[in-house]
Amino acid sequence: MADKVSTIFINGTEYPFKEGQTVIQVCHENGIDVPHYCYHPGLSIAGNCRICMVEVEGNPQPQISCKMQCAPPPWVSEPLKIQTESEVAEEGRSGVMEMLLVNHPLDCPICDQAGECHLQDYSYEHGGGKASTSTAKTKLPKNVPFGEKIVYDAERCIKCTLCVRFCQEVTETNELDLGGRGDEEIVIMTSKGEFETPYAMNIIDICPVGALTSKDFRFKSRLWFMDFAPSIDTSSAKGVNITTGGREGEFLRIEPRYNPGVNQWWMSDEGRLGYKFVNSPTRVKAPLVRGENGELAEALWHNAIDAAGTALRASPGDVLVDGGCTLEEMALAQELASAMGAKAKFAAATGEGDDWLITEEKGANAKGGEMLGLARAKRASAAAVLMIERDEHVNASMREKAGAVVVFALDMEQVPDSAQVVFPMPSWAEREGLLVNIDGLVQAMERNQGIGPGNLTPPVELLEELIGEFDDAYEWRGREGVIESIRAMKAFEGVPFPGDTATAEVGA
Ligand code: SF4
Ligand code: FES
Repeated sequence: MADKVSTIFINGTEYPFKEGQTVIQVCHENGIDVPHYCYHPGLSIAGNCRICMVEVEGNPQPQISCKMQCAPPPWVSEPLKIQTESEVAEEGRSGVMEMLLVNHPLDCPICDQAGECHLQDYSYEHGGGKASTSTAKTKLPKNVPFGEKIVYDAERCIKCTLCVRFCQEVTETNELDLGGRGDEEIVIMTSKGEFETPYAMNIIDICPVGALTSKDFRFKSRLWFMDFAPSIDTSSAKGVNITTGGREGEFLRIEPRYNPGVNQWWMSDEGRLGYKFVNSPTRVKAPLVRGENGELAEALWHNAIDAAGTALRASPGDVLVDGGCTLEEMALAQELASAMGAKAKFAAATGEGDDWLITEEKGANAKGGEMLGLARAKRASAAAVLMIERDEHVNASMREKAGAVVVFALDMEQVPDSAQVVFPMPSWAEREGLLVNIDGLVQAMERNQGIGPGNLTPPVELLEELIGEFDDAYEWRGREGVIESIRAMKAFEGVPFPGDTATAEVGA
């Protein structure tokens, strides 16, 4: 019996494949672009859109690569030979594009998906730029609410069923199905207009066209005017990988970022919409010092640092930090506390969770705090320094009872009466740093330049300045130096940090 074939030729080059792999998977694994609408690596294969056609040597008809196994039939002893860019393949795709556009409204100028629409991209890349029919387009329902957060436009829908399969296979809540026939077939809600799953908004991301859009993000900005940055969802402790999107200071959206070991392609709606507080009109935008008249007034950074040093020397005490503070910030908070002869603690809320991406622990770096040896603040107690990002972690009672003289606050509403000096706390989307998720994975967040008031001194720098107020011999280490100190701690021995090994991969 002939040996099992374990390679495939794609565009003349031989590639190995694993048992069960399809042609499109090996193409994508090797950086060979094959267009796809209904294929998603996290869902079952439907094979209904036909855009992924490739030419197979010996077969006069192009074949869909998402459903085609790399392994030839058992009686064939030669590897398959595939062409992804041949005339046969392109002709097939061009025909598919023409068919999909027969009833499409071509409303790209007012569609939120423009700029990240597969239909738009493939129309340029694979479309013939012509239509063989001039019949009137079928009219279908538009602006249909799918629950409270999603809007469906049936005229833009290409019936790829990705959204339906997500609700069947990932959340297993089955809220969607196809209804109607022929060119009047549309996606319908089988539930009574509401999603049971708290992960419904993922269908917006996987919809390859503009048929499903987010009520929250609709009409807010063209993508090409926005800044994007890789970050971590700080609404829970799972460490869901995300991309933040903002424009001219305003936080506009969050989308999940693929990480096979944490969240794959998905995130919760709660995490996705949990950015609103960052756009508060009452953000602290400059350092404030309480004057002799008892009012807080804007001050220069170095004057505020001097004033903070004076206030802390007069009343030193514990440092209480938000459970979403980065590892670097927590480590420096601990150094500041010990320089004052006090202790550092972190505060983090708990709440409802599930057995997937929503954790009961809400402190995004509570695990990091524990590893550093910070105690968890269970109730309001005295603290000289407070670092507050989210209200729910360092709550109103904690803020008032602490009597802190130096406060890092995101919003003026969070500043307690006791504050003598207030430093602006940039939101997590505006800071770079490390977080340890609930499973002990250290992950990095990057700053998004398009979000927040800008020009805020990072808390890491301010904390080093404050330590210097108590320790004349203190040597500035910068963020990288602080990370080195953390890595040298026993609790972090052998723990991989971002950059040591790949903790995130790029998905399809
Ligand atoms: S709404 Fe989008 S994801 Fe759902 S079937 Fe239509 S095109 Fe596909
Ligand atoms: S991606 Fe292959 S048929 Fe749709």
